[in-house]
Amino acid sequence: MARLRDCLPRLMVTLRSLLFWSLVYCYCGLCASIHLLKLLWSIGKGPAQTFRRVAREHPPACLNDPSLGTHCYVRIKDSGLRFHYVAAGERGKPLMLLLHGFPEFWYSWRHQLREFKSEYRVVALDLRGCGETDAPIHQENYTLDCLITDIKDILDSLGYSKCVLIGHDWGGMIAWLIAICYPEMVMKLIVINFPHPNVFTEYILRHPAQLFKSSYYYFFQIPWFPEFMFSINDFKALKHLFTSHSTGIGRKGCQLTTEDLEAYIYVFSQPGALSGPINHYRNIFRSV
Ligand SMILES: *[C@@H]1O[C@H](CO)[C@@H](O)[C@H](O)[C@H]1NC(C)=O
Repeated sequence: MARLRDCLPRLMVTLRSLLFWSLVYCYCGLCASIHLLKLLWSIGKGPAQTFRRVAREHPPACLNDPSLGTHCYVRIKDSGLRFHYVAAGERGKPLMLLLHGFPEFWYSWRHQLREFKSEYRVVALDLRGCGETDAPIHQENYTLDCLITDIKDILDSLGYSKCVLIGHDWGGMIAWLIAICYPEMVMKLIVINFPHPNVFTEYILRHPAQLFKSSYYYFFQIPWFPEFMFSINDFKALKHLFTSHSTGIGRKGCQLTTEDLEAYIYVFSQPGALSGPINHYRNIFRSV
């Protein structure tokens, strides 16, 4: 009896983790099936268009607009990766570091680059695997550990020991983790549209509806297929994310211009450009 009582907690943990993983994978399968059905449905409607996807050859002018800042590159010694960022404001002013979300890149911070450059050295980074920053090919290259270390390395190589750290969506998640792991690096933390990771995990476990709202986390666990889904029909799903009522910018007069949208399509239509950002999501269940 005593031995059973000793074993019981361990058994519960094993059972719970078994349950956790079966739920995760069942849900991944479900999400994939729904997307597959949608795909078959759209093939039925217009076969000629469905698989068309053309890599844009020329960046729209807005990506090289000098009023946004200067394009810079820095190679990190430890990881060997070259990072791209756009910087505005004088060197030596306090650093404001901007981390974008999914599926985005530095350009999402165009307004902040202009707004804050008089007071800060504003740096809008392309995260590992995104935009013009190098994209290692392995899924293991995108663990949260790697992503956090990247930010620490970037700060070092910019010659700063601390910054005002701003993150949006997935970048917000990274910003939280930086603040947790390296509080001395963060003067101020601003997180847009991402809850504290602990709150998020608990909330998701208690409120199954959130599981549906975050269903793309599960869908992204599947290899290859999410990249394919985003790019078919000339990146229709990507355009939809930026322009639809539910996920696009709602406020009148603030919506993306045609050129803004082309900037995103330009970046994500480059060969392999979707894999890096999606790989960011492919290790999270292990981290949870
Ligand atoms: C990527 O992952 C591979 C295999 O785990 C490893 O050998 C390599 O050092 C990693 N590269 C980076 C840049 O993290």
